[in-house]
Amino acid sequence: MALCFLGLITCAPNQTETSIEQRIDVLLSQMTLEEKIGQMNQYSGFWDATGPAPKVGSAAQQYEQLKKGHVGSMLNIRGVENVRAIQQIAVEETRLGIPLIFGFDVIHGFKTISPIPLAEAASWDLKAIETSARMAALEASASGINWTFAPMVDVSRDARWGRVMEGAGEDPYLGSKVAFARVKGFQGDDLSSPKTIAACAKHFAGYGFPESGKEYNTVDIGTQTLNNIVLPPFLATVNAGVRTLMNSFSQVNGIPSTGSKALQRDVLKTQWNFDGFVVSDWGSIKEMVNHGYAKDSKMAAKIALQAGSDMDMQSLAYVTHLADLVRSGEVNEALIEDATRRILRVKFELGLFDDPYKYCDPIREKTTVGNTKIQQASLDIAKKSIVLLKNDKQLLPLPKQGLTIGVIGALASDKTSPLGNWCFAADDGSAVSVLEGMKSYPGNTILYAKGADLNLGEIQFAQEMIINSDNKSDFPKALEVAKQSDVVIMVLGEHGYQSGEGRSRTDLGLPGVQQDLLEAVYQVNKTIVLVLNNGRPLVLNWADQHLPAIVEAWQLGSQSGHALAQVIYGDYNPSGKLPMSFPRSVGQVPIYYNHKSSGRPSLPAPGEVFWTHYQDEKNSPLYPFGYGLSYTTFEYYNIEAHRETDGNFSVSVEVKNTGDVSGKEVVQLYLKDHVARPTRPVKELKGFELIELLPNTSIRVQFTLTEQELGFYDDHGTLTVQPGEFTIYIGGDSTANLTTTIEL
Ligand code: NOJ
Repeated sequence: MALCFLGLITCAPNQTETSIEQRIDVLLSQMTLEEKIGQMNQYSGFWDATGPAPKVGSAAQQYEQLKKGHVGSMLNIRGVENVRAIQQIAVEETRLGIPLIFGFDVIHGFKTISPIPLAEAASWDLKAIETSARMAALEASASGINWTFAPMVDVSRDARWGRVMEGAGEDPYLGSKVAFARVKGFQGDDLSSPKTIAACAKHFAGYGFPESGKEYNTVDIGTQTLNNIVLPPFLATVNAGVRTLMNSFSQVNGIPSTGSKALQRDVLKTQWNFDGFVVSDWGSIKEMVNHGYAKDSKMAAKIALQAGSDMDMQSLAYVTHLADLVRSGEVNEALIEDATRRILRVKFELGLFDDPYKYCDPIREKTTVGNTKIQQASLDIAKKSIVLLKNDKQLLPLPKQGLTIGVIGALASDKTSPLGNWCFAADDGSAVSVLEGMKSYPGNTILYAKGADLNLGEIQFAQEMIINSDNKSDFPKALEVAKQSDVVIMVLGEHGYQSGEGRSRTDLGLPGVQQDLLEAVYQVNKTIVLVLNNGRPLVLNWADQHLPAIVEAWQLGSQSGHALAQVIYGDYNPSGKLPMSFPRSVGQVPIYYNHKSSGRPSLPAPGEVFWTHYQDEKNSPLYPFGYGLSYTTFEYYNIEAHRETDGNFSVSVEVKNTGDVSGKEVVQLYLKDHVARPTRPVKELKGFELIELLPNTSIRVQFTLTEQELGFYDDHGTLTVQPGEFTIYIGGDSTANLTTTIEL
């Protein structure tokens, strides 16, 4: 595969970089082969660091390797006391005293949890997203961590896949902007500051396209999808200066990513000039044996190294086999030198050689973790991530007094589920529940019934299938509450552990008996606000047809209940927009707005059969990409486009707040390239602006499109810009129909 991407930022090495390279040269010259390979070896935390070291078993072996300098990194160790204890072994007991780098899945917050990444993407607020990553870095670094395995930048079009919660949704443009912001947030401007951490863009590449949405499944995608949809967000992270990437578990077009030289060496390290390092995913080197790509773990180690995987997470394949492979002449030691150099480079950049304990200050840990500033930032992005899906007759916002409000639902009082998946450092039960959030406004009477049970609270790793409860014993109480209430807030959806890694689903409805509960409550009180907690798009047809108001609240993190209450009472006017299409039926999946046209796309005359459609469902999603309502309304008009003397296209539109409250709007620009070879999607997002308008005011929103932005990557990965006519659509979601045309 020969890919050649534009837009890459490369810099000449500065003084510091030069001296880092010299220091690496000196160090490398002193290292034995085994010590170099040791840098490429990463283990998960294997014992209680402050307790006694293990005497037997594999943990004892790992401890021995650590003392010999045969471990370069540890993951899943946190807390300054623990990190210091392990770092001390590396620095004080090994021959060369090379410090470890400590990795952790700081996916959306550390101890203070921010919204799941899919929710944050729904804010379309790049500043808030960057700040959220900044806060996560602040907290994690105060707790000994210097490397996060985030951001996940896998584009995905398949809501069945549980990990859509961890990405930015279906669009490569939005995904690239979010990816860039998150890397900047984690890494800041100075990686050597003790308050920033190295980021890791994952999973390189294609992991978000598993067949049938089933976790870890085969990925089979064409070069069009790879080059134009999957790779751009990764390139954005490289442009943002990301220091590490993680490859993936999946095989892509017959080659496991972990063993893909085309991806790791050719695209990433050669064409994109990436000089950080690549870590494997957990055990993904030896999983190449299961894929049928390597006959044993020794062969897997050789393939992974040659392909450009620099660090082995938990396969033990490098530390076990690489030295033999070098001695037998099967592997060139220069490849090991290169991998070690990359890893040492990042350690130098983090400043670990100057002070290996710089992230181990117990006072900073105490004053930083969970502090008010971090909680405030979590609340801020939580509000911004909420998407208002329906609001008939302006049922919302609710008045702050005089009402009896029934809060009902399996998730209404849950204080763990709002943390979502990937929240290992947070305390269970530490989120503000919806019920608590509603009760914090004193003017209304709040009644509560659980109604249905998901039974998932404590059982992180249990199978959803087994534990979805069919218990309806609390239904009568819920109906009683509903009857006594002026308004019912139903808090339903998925528990935080029903999405995430290993949580694929075939049904996108409300799990368990929640739909039955919703319909039963509706029989006694139709004034329902459905508050959804979920990590993926759900199928919501019944709710959309029957209920007056639907609020998409994802899993919003530590401040969840407060964020929701502020939206429900109108103290924050919702501004989120969907980063993924919500299907009408699971049978429509994968469904995404930027699809190609078929040869028979147009609406037929009545009774026609032979066109692109289903017999039993519409083609459109229930809620399209980019969609979200506000408590006010916006009008778009006077779209204009012209070419500037510098060759760029200037496009603008007027937007007016036509309601009676202030509000924010994400103004979205889409492009259609009418004729191209290969063909282009029916529409592609090419720009967006988050604006805020007072009632009855308007603004002209301005976009610039460069020639390059009208182009795309061809099958060889080369950017091609083809002349012709383009339609521009501007509006508040991907169905925008205010248009103008430009010609290239
Ligand atoms: C496996 C996951 O795929 C990856 O994203 C994560 O960072 C590692 N486990 C480490 O926990």
